[in-house]
Amino acid sequence: MDGNGRWANERGLPRIEGHRRGAEAVKRTLKAVQDNGVKIITLYAFSVENWNRPKKEVDALMKLLERFLADQLPVLIKRKIRLRVIGRYQELPERVQDRLRKAEAATKDFTTHTLALALNYGARTEVVDAVKAIAKAAQAGDIDLNALDYDGFRPYLYTSDLPDPDLVIRTSGESRLSNFLLLQAAYAELYITPVLWPDFDETHFKAALADYASRERRYGKTAEQLQAT
Ligand code: FPP
Repeated sequence: MDGNGRWANERGLPRIEGHRRGAEAVKRTLKAVQDNGVKIITLYAFSVENWNRPKKEVDALMKLLERFLADQLPVLIKRKIRLRVIGRYQELPERVQDRLRKAEAATKDFTTHTLALALNYGARTEVVDAVKAIAKAAQAGDIDLNALDYDGFRPYLYTSDLPDPDLVIRTSGESRLSNFLLLQAAYAELYITPVLWPDFDETHFKAALADYASRERRYGKTAEQLQAT
């Protein structure tokens, strides 16, 4: 969800106004996701690197998140959307953790739609956390390292109960993954749009889906092999 700062700068507004408008785009997108039959969306809302931003901006983002969770919980319940958090949860401000725990608990039984929020998330941190957990399990004799393969590694990722993403959309024209789901997105289709996140709406979402529908996913195979199946 990139481009909040630029959206605000272009209008001579403070960066946080861009984030506020970004939160409105989140609400719009969540509706578009559901209306277009997409079951799971993961939003990269705060990275482990984002703590390096000015304290004023970090504090404002946490407040915005807290308010978003309070306002949107009834909406998630009404639309039967499960909330999941991926990232180092326990390092977030207590008040945000509280809201997240409440929202996760209240929506845990919904099975059709999931909103995953990547908060204090970083793919490299995720891999390190997974490796530490695996080392612990190996020490305890619970896993056999010689037999470990990616299927055995996967349950140690924050996304253990989520499928890999099919499509990764990045707004504001930047062509990089910025430490987002690096392992899980290994075979995801990437869609880069110049639209700044606060302007993102259902039309842009549909354009991304249409583009995705035109891709041929080969997973390392040849086009001929795919045609034969
Ligand atoms: C990146 O844009 C955006 C963020 C670091 C924060 C994303 C947060 C929101 C969209 C709002 C709050 C989220 C929820 C789920 C309610 P940027 O600030 O790096 O933009 P720039 O590159 O133009 O400066």
